[in-house]
Amino acid sequence: MAAKARELKAAGKDIISLSLGEPDFNTPDFIKEAAVQAIHDNYSSYSPVDGYVDLKDAIITKFKRDNNIDYNQNQIVVSTGAKQSIANVAMVLLNPGDEVLLPAPYWVSYSAIAILCEAKFVEVPSSIDTDFKITPEQLEAAITPKTKMVFFNSPNNPSGTIYTEKEYRALAKVLEKHPQIYILSDEIYEHINYSGKHESIAQFESIRNQVAIVNGVSKGYAMTGWRLNENIEAQLLVPSLHANSSLPWKHLDRNNPLDFEAEMETLKSEVASGDRERKPVFLNFTGHT
Ligand SMILES: Cc1ncc(COP(=O)(O)O)c(C=O)c1O
Repeated sequence: MAAKARELKAAGKDIISLSLGEPDFNTPDFIKEAAVQAIHDNYSSYSPVDGYVDLKDAIITKFKRDNNIDYNQNQIVVSTGAKQSIANVAMVLLNPGDEVLLPAPYWVSYSAIAILCEAKFVEVPSSIDTDFKITPEQLEAAITPKTKMVFFNSPNNPSGTIYTEKEYRALAKVLEKHPQIYILSDEIYEHINYSGKHESIAQFESIRNQVAIVNGVSKGYAMTGWRLNENIEAQLLVPSLHANSSLPWKHLDRNNPLDFEAEMETLKSEVASGDRERKPVFLNFTGHT
């Protein structure tokens, strides 16, 4: 889809691409400098398959600080991008014939990943009347004995919609009645949010163990070409997901050690600046005021 959009743009067509999300600003200088420093420090050998321990600790700090969620090192797997993490979780969980609920509109790759897993994807439609969000009633009605997973993506690509705490709480109430259903929460656009606080559906204890969060630096820090992200998963998935991270089917192998250094710098600087300063720093990067 993205390639098609590029092709049409190159042919002079006026195209708004609603496929992949490319930030309209550049990777911040302090991250570039950290990567250059990592090259000079010969940071170039194989990294641990599930991520460096220091990086996992920085990710744990981020989740506690930004999302008030406690995770431990065993629950974190670092990968080469949100897309890889989503595919890893899906490959580990989905069997042929399982149903995956996709609140629509959704990012193009979700259905493709479900198809790869030989699962059946079921769209749950939304419209402008509900601000492109699904309701608890719709969710309940879409669940069948075959439902294995539901995807949420807030802030959302392509609609831009953002679920509030109250809306997620109501959806969590439905899902807590179905503990066999896993929830994939794609929060890759956490920092591209101009309308309020980011909410994660994993904040609700009653469903915490059903949720795999996928988050990372590709969008918030304009590092889409760097290939690095983080993925937190329900404790139950951990052994198979860790093993799966090293399988050759994934599109890139291992998280890049240079990215590790850069992400450490990103996370350290966020931790040092604190939540309240995070927004102005981000807006400076983007040139917005
Ligand atoms: C909703 C959503 N999730 C995940 C991704 C992929 O992110 P990454 O570059 O970290 O693999 C994209 C890319 O456009 C996206 O729009």
